[in-house]
Amino acid sequence: MLSEILNKKPLKAADDKVYEWLRAQIDPVILDIKKPFKYAFTYINRKMDRSLSVEQIYENVDCPVDDEGNRLTIQVRNLSKIFGKFPETAIPLLEKGMTKDEILKTTGMTVGLYGVDFDVREGEIFVLMGLSGSGKSTLERCLNRLHEPTTGEVNIEGLNLTKLSNQNLRAIRRKKMSMVFQNFGLLPHRNVLNNVAYGLEVQGIPESERLEAAQKAIDMVGLSGYEKSKPSSLSGGMKQRVGLARGLANDPGILFMDEAFSALDPLIRSDMQDELLKIQAKLSKTIVFVTHDLDEALKIGDRIALMNDGKVVQIGTAEDILQRPADDYVSRFVEDVDRSKVLTAGVFMKRPRELVKSNQGPRTVLKLMEGSNWNVAFAVDKAGKFQGIVETDDALRAVRDNLPLASIIDGDVPTVGIDTPMSEVIQHLVTTHYSIPVLDDENYLVGVVRPSSAVDVMNVGGNNNE
Ligand SMILES: Nc1ncnc2c1ncn2[C@@H]1O[C@H](COP(=O)(O)OP(=O)(O)OP(=O)(O)O)[C@@H](O)[C@H]1O
Ligand SMILES: [Mg+2]
Repeated sequence: MLSEILNKKPLKAADDKVYEWLRAQIDPVILDIKKPFKYAFTYINRKMDRSLSVEQIYENVDCPVDDEGNRLTIQVRNLSKIFGKFPETAIPLLEKGMTKDEILKTTGMTVGLYGVDFDVREGEIFVLMGLSGSGKSTLERCLNRLHEPTTGEVNIEGLNLTKLSNQNLRAIRRKKMSMVFQNFGLLPHRNVLNNVAYGLEVQGIPESERLEAAQKAIDMVGLSGYEKSKPSSLSGGMKQRVGLARGLANDPGILFMDEAFSALDPLIRSDMQDELLKIQAKLSKTIVFVTHDLDEALKIGDRIALMNDGKVVQIGTAEDILQRPADDYVSRFVEDVDRSKVLTAGVFMKRPRELVKSNQGPRTVLKLMEGSNWNVAFAVDKAGKFQGIVETDDALRAVRDNLPLASIIDGDVPTVGIDTPMSEVIQHLVTTHYSIPVLDDENYLVGVVRPSSAVDVMNVGGNNNE
């Protein structure tokens, strides 16, 4: 009250002197009164907001699991974000059915998100797609509470993030999450290694440990040899790789990527998408990837959420979205798709479950294959490079005749690339009795196309207007 009166401008210039004198007398008194309160509040806050370790925060919290046994890393419930002076007051208006535009006109407030619900499974690339202003970044920023949601819940591995104190939130962010942005945010005076290690340095991780982690991430994104380079000497694509390495350096379970590849020219962008798929095949992170580009969404997303005016209008796989667009907005997106470009192995491939390592013994491999009912398994080396397929009969023979696994791996099988058109993949599918391995340029196994996908292609192709 007092400060309100004091902050009012004096009416006449003549009052200025009296006003200044008054303030000079009263301000120190106010400060003195405030001081003990301030200390008390800080003390209480510290006490209540004491930082726990991530393990302590997660004590007694279980990660939810869906009907198919997938762990649900992120759960979003009834999430809304209104920008403006009295955000909560916009919610009843939205409930009455007012549109984003009407709310802006009548209240001056912007609806960033409204009534968003979805789950992200562990290890999937979940894409947020939509036109500019549809709410993609707002949603992503609510997931780690860089934006404070107006209503709703965000659960990370079963823990309600919206209820966490700031300190505990920071602990969760540090250990479990990373963000990769479009503008790489690199520090110009630091070399690549120290840029990648920066996040760990801020967390106070000892030098040798952080440099080791940074080096691992640099190798992962294919930048080995550039550790000592300064950002100014790198191309756009390489800078983006540094950004990605920094995101991976703290080995987060969840990676948030906002238009991370959008500034790159098409070829480099395509390379980066392949790189991400390759890394994902090895690390199985949970990735929330924002893009406004449908081709990119279809290529890298396990599932895609299409956003319009702050709402999620459809969630589905690439096939779902192409085959059964939920409304006109989605149809319009899908209409413009160049189907010959979109119907590729990369879109239809699934993560290979039937994986064995080429250095495993035949007995172990046979046990794994029989236990899981696989007739065929895909063999990869330690790094994840494709070696060939193993058939159960051959594994049996190897055990019986005491042969090494390498001798029964059949490397002479059809494989395809991420961008191989499905028409070509189907040719292979009809001549084999197993899924077709999808390899990147360096022979890493990034996925497999299953025979059932041929049916999906035909369905999607059925919608084709060509
Ligand atoms: N800090 C903010 N203050 C006010 N309004 C905001 C703020 N951030 C976003 N908005 C509004 O929220 C809505 C969603 O914006 P958002 O940035 O999430 O869209 P987007 O889908 O990421 O778009 P783009 O593709 O252009 O990045 C827009 O109407 C935007 O104007
Ligand atoms: Mg955005």
